[in-house]
Amino acid sequence: MKNIHSIRKDYIKGEMRMQDLSSSPAKQLSDWLETALRENIPDANAFCLSTVSSEGFPKGRMVLVKEINSDSLVFYTNKNSNKGEDLRGRSKAGATFFWAEMERQVCVIGDVSEVSEEDNNVYFNTRPRESQLGAWVSEQSSYLDSRDHLSQSYEKVKARFEGVEKVERPPHWGGYRITFVRVEFWQGRASRLHDRVVYTKSAEGEWKKRMLQP
Ligand SMILES: Cc1cc2nc3c(=O)[nH]c(=O)nc-3n(C[C@H](O)[C@H](O)[C@H](O)COP(=O)(O)O)c2cc1C
Repeated sequence: MKNIHSIRKDYIKGEMRMQDLSSSPAKQLSDWLETALRENIPDANAFCLSTVSSEGFPKGRMVLVKEINSDSLVFYTNKNSNKGEDLRGRSKAGATFFWAEMERQVCVIGDVSEVSEEDNNVYFNTRPRESQLGAWVSEQSSYLDSRDHLSQSYEKVKARFEGVEKVERPPHWGGYRITFVRVEFWQGRASRLHDRVVYTKSAEGEWKKRMLQP
């Protein structure tokens, strides 16, 4: 392996001035995501979802953002998974986006709520049939004895829905909404003097922007 301690990189792709940022963190996040999508950055809509287990261990894993609203974002998953279990115990989460090609990071923390059954159905119905069947097959985060077991389960589910036009949504599959409490934008700059701006809400419910030291 290359000597990782000797890797050096200067961040020079852009600058972020507080006055150029939107008054809404959701709008600003959408703008950055839109730029990343336009630049064809792979998995531009992926973010690291952080949750805390009942034992107090934080865990991050990647998921895909499927919606950004005025003050929140939405992702979908199996609610019986480890992350689902963590969120049942503590309805708070972190969402960290990183677009290396743009030298940008966004760190969100927020309160988590479940997306309505109705909205879950609407989104589930837009998914490709294979993904819909997969949602029935995988007991996400449980131990798997063999890959064959998964293939057999998939064949069983496929047979069950053979000839059925619309695959119904499994009850354990759905979305979570993270409502923003604090959102931090980071743009890499030269000499490690990066630009950082954090949005927090005032007592009146207005978003306030402040710069942070790099
Ligand atoms: C780029 C990328 C996108 C992913 N998107 C999702 C997603 O939207 N929903 C999901 O449940 N898992 C997604 N995964 C898989 C998760 O990272 C994770 O392995 C899975 O959800 C189980 O996590 P858990 O056991 O901590 O609950 C994605 C993985 C990668 C690498």
